[in-house]
Amino acid sequence: MIKEDNLTSTQKHKLALDLKPVFIAQLSIIDSLTHDAYCFVDGHLGLVLEEDELITNDFIKDYASTIGKEIFLHKKDFQLLNESLSEQLTKMTRSLSIGDQVKNSIKQANLLSFQMNNLYNDPFDNEVLTNQFLSSKNLATLLSGSAEVSKSLFKNMKKQNHHYMIGQPMLSSILLLSFLKEAKLFTEQENQNLFLASYFKDIGMCFVGRDKWDESDLTKFDKNNISSHSENSMKILNGRIDLSKKYLNIIKHHDFLNKKAFAKINKIQYESDPEITGIETTIVAVCDIFVAMTSKRPYRDEYSFFKALEFIKLLMADEYPQEYKVFVKFITKFFKSM
Ligand SMILES: [Fe+2]
Repeated sequence: MIKEDNLTSTQKHKLALDLKPVFIAQLSIIDSLTHDAYCFVDGHLGLVLEEDELITNDFIKDYASTIGKEIFLHKKDFQLLNESLSEQLTKMTRSLSIGDQVKNSIKQANLLSFQMNNLYNDPFDNEVLTNQFLSSKNLATLLSGSAEVSKSLFKNMKKQNHHYMIGQPMLSSILLLSFLKEAKLFTEQENQNLFLASYFKDIGMCFVGRDKWDESDLTKFDKNNISSHSENSMKILNGRIDLSKKYLNIIKHHDFLNKKAFAKINKIQYESDPEITGIETTIVAVCDIFVAMTSKRPYRDEYSFFKALEFIKLLMADEYPQEYKVFVKFITKFFKSM
């Protein structure tokens, strides 16, 4: 698949200045590039796609299975790709409820996932953040209206196998909204706000280097960066999206169950923050953990459905026994229909 990997060092240095990484699946929204594109394998750049060459689904599939999830584009193509993405997302957002809603929701969720990657690259781009927020709000409205559309979308997104950094927020938020609809604990508006809080909760991971996302062996510095991602998400979003303090607090503490579990397992004292009030943060965290545990990561296999449920029991059953029972009933039915 690599056409040329014998570049001179001058070529390599020049390319390093001009290239930007995107997930290979993002190329599905355009037909061709205006410059050559490269892969980066074992420290070497290799030419994989020439300018004006037609981008086919087969190329994307082959690349993903033989090389990996990231491809390097010239900065001009990177810009064109992102402009096209933003345009397509705006167009789709306007016509989301017209025609086949399952198909529309899949297209919308994919476009959102690609744009989420751009937010990880630059979380302070107001235009992109606003577009992402409004587009995901419309998706939440569509999913609120149909449990079947949510289920089909979840199934499809799971199959898409996006990089987990962009796939996980979407999957956990779809599961969350499906559960909230069934549990009937909150109003429609609250359910949608919780979907949005859940979807944007991992933006703070942008401060963790991309090269660390797929590694299991992390330094103390990296681990600290990861453990402060929820607080950083809140700081990045504060005052920039239309969510009240209550939801920003949920974002800030969305990983508190992981910290509680770590303390429990390691027999360390865990001090809960007084800002964590109500069941909402627990439900957001539980859906996040359930999806993460039942999905494969580059550094570990997926856990079984029962192992994940056992872990959720440990984290939730004592404090919220009733809601835990509703969750078990819901999740069993949800996964049986997958
Ligand atoms: Fe998170």
